[in-house]
Amino acid sequence: MLAVAVLAAGKGTRMKSQLPKVLQPIAGATLVERVLTSCEPLVPVRRILVVGHQAERVEASLAGKPGLEFVLQSPQNGTGHAIQQLLDPLRDFQGELLVLNGDVPLLRSETLEALLAKHRQSQAAVTLLTARFADPTGYGRVFTDGDDRVSCIVEHRDCSREQRLNTLTNAGIYCFDWQKLAAVLPDLRTDNDQGELYLTDTIALLSPACHLEVDDLAEVSGINDRLQLAECEAALQDRLRRHWMAEGVTFTDPASCTLSEATRFGRDVLVEPQCHFRGANTIADGCKIGPGCLIEASTLGEGVEVLYSVLRQVRVDAGCAVGPFAQLRAGAHLAADCRIGNFVEVKNSQLGEGVKANHLSYLGDADIGARVNIGAGTITANFDGVNKHRTVIGAGSKTGANSVLVAPIVLGEAVTVAAGSTLTKDVPAGALAFGRARQEIKPDWRPPAPAA
Ligand code: UD1
Ligand code: CA
Repeated sequence: MLAVAVLAAGKGTRMKSQLPKVLQPIAGATLVERVLTSCEPLVPVRRILVVGHQAERVEASLAGKPGLEFVLQSPQNGTGHAIQQLLDPLRDFQGELLVLNGDVPLLRSETLEALLAKHRQSQAAVTLLTARFADPTGYGRVFTDGDDRVSCIVEHRDCSREQRLNTLTNAGIYCFDWQKLAAVLPDLRTDNDQGELYLTDTIALLSPACHLEVDDLAEVSGINDRLQLAECEAALQDRLRRHWMAEGVTFTDPASCTLSEATRFGRDVLVEPQCHFRGANTIADGCKIGPGCLIEASTLGEGVEVLYSVLRQVRVDAGCAVGPFAQLRAGAHLAADCRIGNFVEVKNSQLGEGVKANHLSYLGDADIGARVNIGAGTITANFDGVNKHRTVIGAGSKTGANSVLVAPIVLGEAVTVAAGSTLTKDVPAGALAFGRARQEIKPDWRPPAPAA
């Protein structure tokens, strides 16, 4: 039986942030979410989060995750003190306790599985993940005897100069025999530089203690400050881009693009430089994105092309072309083969198949039928200062340049709106609507003489 405990009570002083450290995001997910996700494939019977600093905020951020137990550590007197808080909740538990630092976010599930396998096979009291960092500053150092058994861990700040030369470091990921750990937890002492109870001090009290060395340093990198946050973000971005390249996505300048884990790409998608994908996106086969796009929580059908544009919470069906310099906002749905051109903004609107809005328009709260041609500078005036109203335009209609459609308003099918019109009344199908001052001509006009 396996239980998992994630340490997430610390303040994260070195981040210098209002946000608890474990709630800092990388690639759109918080550190603690990532740690929890990494242990999901091991199907633990208990999942416990030790919370303390801003506990309510940390708990609230995980409200959507069922089956999590929260244990309060107050005050936060070190990682050993954090695990002491489990003595009561895990009173009757028998089996392994996997302890994960909440600030080590890039760990792979496969590595945790390997740790568990090694622990079981060597029948150890504890097995921990180690790594060799070229610069292990800040990490606890792991000391082994000749047989590769771990004898103790000494925190960086408690190391002698000689001990600091040891580059074998503690990743902060441990698999304990819970009963054996529980027996030594009360023996921890605060005789160290920080005056805290260190979980790492239990290692010297447990035998045999084994370790599993990891090659991929990114996996075991802890985040204590903004520099390490940026380094982990970069490592994760690299991982995501490599994954999608292996799945058939072309990036012309991969390093200039950022992805979220919840973005899914089809085959033969081309991503040009400076494109950013956030939240849960689905980008179907053959899309061409960029250069210069931000796409968030959106669904793009096959062969969609987007150039220098911002799309958020929208659905764009197959064959549409968007941009350059368009903004599609929440609730925009473009049916197949629409064209949205420069300086066009679409919000909370349904566009039928083949709608064209090529220049300088605002389409908000509108239902636009198939093949409608939106003339340059057409504006749906959807807001009366208090409420938003809808504009309906029937299939096959055309609006002239600089039309203002004052909502609520309904234009039937195949309506033509004359250029420069401001319309405030519904227009029946097939009609031509003018709403502008009639042009007058003064023939042989002589300009006034200059003043004397
Ligand atoms: C810890 C390890 C160190 C290891 C490193 C790996 C100890 C004493 N040291 O050091 O050997 O190399 O991780 O990244 O464990 N936390 C609590 N309650 C507390 C204190 C901390 O829940 O009272 C949580 C923090 O929120 C964090 C984790 O424990 O998620 C680690 O704490 P942190 O202070 O970052 O430990 P390190 O100094 O990095
Ligand atoms: Ca840390």
